[in-house]
Amino acid sequence: MADLDDLRDGAKFGENIAQKTEGFFLKGCNNLDWGMKDRMSRIFNPDSGRSVMLAFDHGFIMGPTSGVERIDLTILPLIEHADCLMCARGILRSLVPPSSRKPICLRSDAGSSILTDLNHNVIIDVQDAARLNASAMAVMVAIGDADTEALTVSNLYNAVDAGQAYGIPVMGVTAVGKAMARDARYFALASRICAENGANIVKTYYTEGFEKVVACCPVPIVIAGGKKLPELEALELAYMAIQAGAAGVDMGRNVFQSDAPAAMIQAVGAVVHKDIKPAEAFQMYQDLKQLADATK
Ligand code: R5P
Repeated sequence: MADLDDLRDGAKFGENIAQKTEGFFLKGCNNLDWGMKDRMSRIFNPDSGRSVMLAFDHGFIMGPTSGVERIDLTILPLIEHADCLMCARGILRSLVPPSSRKPICLRSDAGSSILTDLNHNVIIDVQDAARLNASAMAVMVAIGDADTEALTVSNLYNAVDAGQAYGIPVMGVTAVGKAMARDARYFALASRICAENGANIVKTYYTEGFEKVVACCPVPIVIAGGKKLPELEALELAYMAIQAGAAGVDMGRNVFQSDAPAAMIQAVGAVVHKDIKPAEAFQMYQDLKQLADATK
């Protein structure tokens, strides 16, 4: 039975102080439910409003491509520097320590490999994403690809329905077909279609005129890094995307294929969270690389 002795009346009602009603720090997210906002706040740093997502899901299509042959040796040492990890569930369960406490953007579609046609994917069961405590589900869409556009858009649509039921945000990943022009008009179209179908985050590629892509997308955009570039160019890419309004990067090869991946991800982090200019970030990369080389 509850202890009812000395039950005191409340006295501190703050009658003259209005309760604060806070807006949410990410665009287009104010009307999401608490669990969604909680997960978005794990992915995006509430102070900067941005995120460095470390992508290492490449093996789910490409197999043991350069840099992800041994996730335990090459990727795990980097995760302390990432805000969020993007990977497939097999790698997550087999190699990523749950004690790392990093939010997971779970690769949530499957069914393709580099040996066959891309994008004939199906989505994984949302209950498995929930079991893995995923902070987001990533689903690829292939806008403009006659064979797979409808399937991949319905994948996204269904993932959003499922994610909604469990409070898990969905990231729409814009795939680029071989026939597609990599320009702002195309990426604005693809990103907007993702958001219109309910994606809470959109991953796309940086291009000239990216401000327009960001402006017409009602939810946060992160950019993929794409193929490996010289480090300074990759930092310039990240800088231009952030200055154009991107909410972060979801970068893989330009980090894990770098000569000094830990130095690179830290330099990218400075660009993303601190608006550091590319030249300064490159100097930071070189200094950290030198330090790491000296202690080898
Ligand atoms: C996207 O679908 C891929 O699976 C990668 O996650 C994405 O392309 C980011 O990696 P990268 O920076 O190497 O392009």
